[in-house]
Amino acid sequence: MRKHFLSFSDMTSSELYDLFELSKKLKKDKISPILNGKVLALIFEKPSLRTRFTFEAGMFELGGYAIYLAPQDIGLGKRESIPDAARNLSRWASGIMARTFEHKTVLQLAKYATIPVINGLSDIEHPCQVLADMFTIWEKRGTFSNIKLAWVGDGNNVCNSLIIASKILKFDLSISTPGGYEPNKKFTNTSSIYVTNEPLDAVKEADIIYTDVWTSMGQEMEREERLKKFKEFQVNNNLLKKAKSDCLIMHCLPAHRGEEITDDVIDGPQSIVFDQAENRLHAQKALLVKLLSE
Ligand code: CP
Ligand code: NVA
Repeated sequence: MRKHFLSFSDMTSSELYDLFELSKKLKKDKISPILNGKVLALIFEKPSLRTRFTFEAGMFELGGYAIYLAPQDIGLGKRESIPDAARNLSRWASGIMARTFEHKTVLQLAKYATIPVINGLSDIEHPCQVLADMFTIWEKRGTFSNIKLAWVGDGNNVCNSLIIASKILKFDLSISTPGGYEPNKKFTNTSSIYVTNEPLDAVKEADIIYTDVWTSMGQEMEREERLKKFKEFQVNNNLLKKAKSDCLIMHCLPAHRGEEITDDVIDGPQSIVFDQAENRLHAQKALLVKLLSE
């Protein structure tokens, strides 16, 4: 049956552990032509370094091919309707990866495509990022039990996918955001998620601190206001002191150094941000094998 990856909730815990094992294997055997002859369409409405590069390189290393479609190429919803774009791509490609402004665009692509659709970031979720992040934690710690992850910053797309991951993989999640920037309650209405407006409170005894930019793509008009509201939410050495001494630092990147994170923390010995970035490649290759070869 055709399977999409639109939300992190599209994977069960056992599917995730299978993906971690496969990611580990593909990390070792880099060139494995499992998707020989398959083509992946990459639809981008927003910029990208990691997502574009890792999906293109990943398809190449799996023996397939990826075709990048820039915003002006399709004119999604303007030059051509979303259903028609999905119908066309389904005749040529084996899968679609889409980075969109609105989450409903990826949902619509999935509704009209006859091939698997992967969400490469929308305003609501970033499941591919969190898949690589969970693989990274699994690699470093071997387990999710007794892990406390503290989110510091905006209750955004990455945060939403992390919330879902915490429920499936069963780790503790403490979220700190400025008032008014909490994640949507539909994600946090379970007792396992702690939400506060105090970053020092959230990171107490944390095993992992995770942060992201204060202004996400598409919110550029709010940048000045957000810079003021998020001032106390910087991940710096003072904050790090409140966490466990071996606490890991995560960031999905790109980072706005000097805003949400200081240079000494992102470049420090506890930072695993470039392991996360590397693992985008390996984890997404596992995802592609699962979705495109089934
Ligand atoms: N983390 C991430 O998705 O990076 P890009 O926006 O560069 O793809
Ligand atoms: N929250 C950020 C993540 C970038 C990878 C954004 O949506 O811009």
